[in-house]
Amino acid sequence: MPTRIILDTDPGADDALAILLMLSSPEIQLEALTTVHGNVTIDKTTRNALALLEFLNAKNIPVAQGCSLPLVKPPHQAQGEVVHGSSGMGRTNLTEPTLKPIETHAVDYLIERFLAEPKELTLFAVGPLTNVALAIRKEPKFAQAVKKLVIMGGAIRSGGNMSPLAEFNISEDPHAAHIVFNSGIPITLIPLDVTYKCLLTSADIERLNKIDSPIARFVRDVTADYMEFYLKYEGFAGCALHDPLTVAAIIAPELLTFESHYVNVDISGGVSTGKTYADFMKVTKKPANIKVALDVKGREFVELFIERMENLAKQ
Ligand code: RIB
Ligand code: CA
Repeated sequence: MPTRIILDTDPGADDALAILLMLSSPEIQLEALTTVHGNVTIDKTTRNALALLEFLNAKNIPVAQGCSLPLVKPPHQAQGEVVHGSSGMGRTNLTEPTLKPIETHAVDYLIERFLAEPKELTLFAVGPLTNVALAIRKEPKFAQAVKKLVIMGGAIRSGGNMSPLAEFNISEDPHAAHIVFNSGIPITLIPLDVTYKCLLTSADIERLNKIDSPIARFVRDVTADYMEFYLKYEGFAGCALHDPLTVAAIIAPELLTFESHYVNVDISGGVSTGKTYADFMKVTKKPANIKVALDVKGREFVELFIERMENLAKQ
């Protein structure tokens, strides 16, 4: 039986790659997308989600639009546009979608879906956690209805990519992350510690584009700004497959090394706000609340990703 997934997302180049990987994986049944502010504005993340589903001929998957701002702090979309391009989808030229989001707000849609089938659905969150946090606060039964929550976010032993200490998704809405991390939902966290070990390179893009296919060209174009950013600012010719690596939790968990720890996020308002930390020495005496991926066979994951993209491109 495939894992039934609802994906909360801020597409975003790597979000798009995660959606391609989910749709090319028989282990997964992607049932809906909920959009959130993050890499770019909510209007753009929602438009990108709709345009991507139309491009992939996956029009049966509903999209519910979500929150446009973090719970407390101001947004930093400009940072996202540097990495993902002003549209949020790099140098792709997807046609304007004819699809529209459903009427229901993402927060209400999440509550409806998970309460309708308690412990049957897995939630993936690969953007700021604003929608998920509000679902937890609005409906007390929501947290216990979620079978599992897989999050791309955080930096445990790694430095941050939004501040020296904080990763973008958590940093964009640290208060939402604090609510989610302390909700009691079974959480699997995929932090920068492992995603930076999964670098898609231009050689991988060239290999994929040996196949004459709109999918191959899409992967090339959606990562173009991303690749340029990494070379210019982070000194390596490749882009980290942040969001796609969450999919490994379902399709190739053997590639990840997990540890369970008490994990929380700093919301004190100082320089380390948004920093995610694990109590490795058990000094808080608090029980483990999160299963964290702290190592990965990165190259093997990238090979798996490219193989699945090649299969998708040949369809
Ligand atoms: O830090 C990486 C995360 O921030 C990814 O989800 C990327 O899409 C951005 O949202
Ligand atoms: Ca994302």
